[in-house]
Amino acid sequence: MLEVQQLAKRYGEVTVFRDVSLQVAAGEFVAIVGESGVGKSTLLNCMAGLDHWDEGRILVDGTDLSTLDDEARALLRRRELGFVFQAFHVLPHLDVAQNVGLPLLLLQRPDAARVQAMLEAVGLSGLGARLPQELSGGQLQRVAIARALVHRPRLLLADEPTGNLDPATAARVLEVLRSQARASGAALVLVTHSASAAGLADRVLRLQADGIRG
Ligand SMILES: Nc1ncnc2c1ncn2[C@@H]1O[C@H](COP(=O)(O)OP(=O)(O)OP(=O)(O)O)[C@@H](O)[C@H]1O
Ligand SMILES: [Mg+2]
Repeated sequence: MLEVQQLAKRYGEVTVFRDVSLQVAAGEFVAIVGESGVGKSTLLNCMAGLDHWDEGRILVDGTDLSTLDDEARALLRRRELGFVFQAFHVLPHLDVAQNVGLPLLLLQRPDAARVQAMLEAVGLSGLGARLPQELSGGQLQRVAIARALVHRPRLLLADEPTGNLDPATAARVLEVLRSQARASGAALVLVTHSASAAGLADRVLRLQADGIRG
């Protein structure tokens, strides 16, 4: 489902990482760990076609992202990808249900029942009509998770999705991510600093400046 080959990322003369190669199969759950600043979010953004890299290739479902223009990348993201950002990126002027339903709307497949089911799965039923500013950080994080899952993407990329949650809620939300991914045969890539979150994965990879290893 996802293949990263010999990826390198630099800012000018400064190399963030190089020689990063990994594969994630459909239905597989891979955790990526590593020190703060080593490039985990950058790598995830590259996988989503949201950032540029300097060497190597990324294939999503066999498609080389570098062969796609911006519009084609956006379309691939919309159809195939769910992304939970480290900083949520919830839209402030849409209510919770509208935020969660946005991927379905963009695909012209609105589905209020599916939106409600996702809100319930992450423990936010009843909050659909609230605006993001009326939610706590942990609630916002769960909005972002519900939105990433709502359209049953084939590839799920989650950047520290439980960083703002208490242990019990974190465990519950991770279970939602994992079970939804498994149910739809999606590949799940989770960036985390949490040992217990990483412990749920089929494989744990450690990112370092000179590569990524199991
Ligand atoms: N525009 C930029 N110019 C130069 N360096 C940058 C730029 N953006 C990010 N960096 C650097 O790239 C590195 C990777 O950042 P990234 O956010 O991917 O780290 P991370 O592993 O996700 O860290 P954390 O665990 O804290 O979230 C960092 O050292 C950061 O300082
Ligand atoms: Mg990060």
